Amino acid sequence: MNSILNIEKNTVVEEAKAYCDAQGLDIVFTSEISKTQLQIISERTKKLPAMYHASVGMLLDRLNNGCYLLMKDGEICGHIFAHKHVIDKYSVYERSSLWVHKTYRNHNLGLLLMDLLTKKFNKDFLISIAQEPTVHNNNELLGMKFITLKDLSPILIETLEKLGKLRDEYKYKYYVNPYFESKINQFNKILKNKI
Ligand SMILES: CC(C)(COP(=O)(O)OP(=O)(O)OC[C@H]1O[C@@H](n2cnc3c(N)ncnc32)[C@H](O)[C@@H]1OP(=O)(O)O)[C@@H](O)C(=O)NCCC(=O)NCCS
Repeated sequence: MNSILNIEKNTVVEEAKAYCDAQGLDIVFTSEISKTQLQIISERTKKLPAMYHASVGMLLDRLNNGCYLLMKDGEICGHIFAHKHVIDKYSVYERSSLWVHKTYRNHNLGLLLMDLLTKKFNKDFLISIAQEPTVHNNNELLGMKFITLKDLSPILIETLEKLGKLRDEYKYKYYVNPYFESKINQFNKILKNKI
């Protein structure tokens, strides 16, 4: 990764962690959340226009991949999940359902959660598809690589398109983690033989 960006990212992440300490927020990685809490999270994803709606069933499915929570006094104050797309026998992960409680926003906790999940999946295929320039900037900071649709296998595009947000390079930008980038040609070749 670009070393200046890496230093910048590490500084911001360290500041975010210090902010968590000061606020009494615990950073937790877990695959267990109560049904009641999942219902609250699901409602939240339905209510907020910037979020993709995730039903309790979808969240339960995502929980199998583990998620990061920001906890204070037993209350969830932030979350990020990993959505798994299965292509042939391969898994491609996408960060999903990112949320930070209003009280704690603009202290880089969104970036902190993105960083934690990106690191957790550094030996897996991780993709990010987003519209917002902030997310593109964050992806650059996190060491992810910008790619175009022509770099991706048509089978992968077809699977991801089920989300209804692909084949639109004007609106969306696509980033993959360094592991995915290093294997992308190999991966496309394997998938090509499956057509
Ligand atoms: C998006 C969100 C998680 C950012 O939390 P945060 O702790 O304030 O994030 P940071 O301090 O790292 O970043 C702050 C800025 O980056 C933006 N940002 C960071 N991650 C973002 C993301 N994934 N999508 C959109 N914007 C994002 C924030 O909106 C904020 O911009 P602003 O100053 O113009 O308001 C928070 O605003 C939130 O929960 N919003 C409602 C749910 C949501 O939009 N989730 C993202 C769905 S992709």
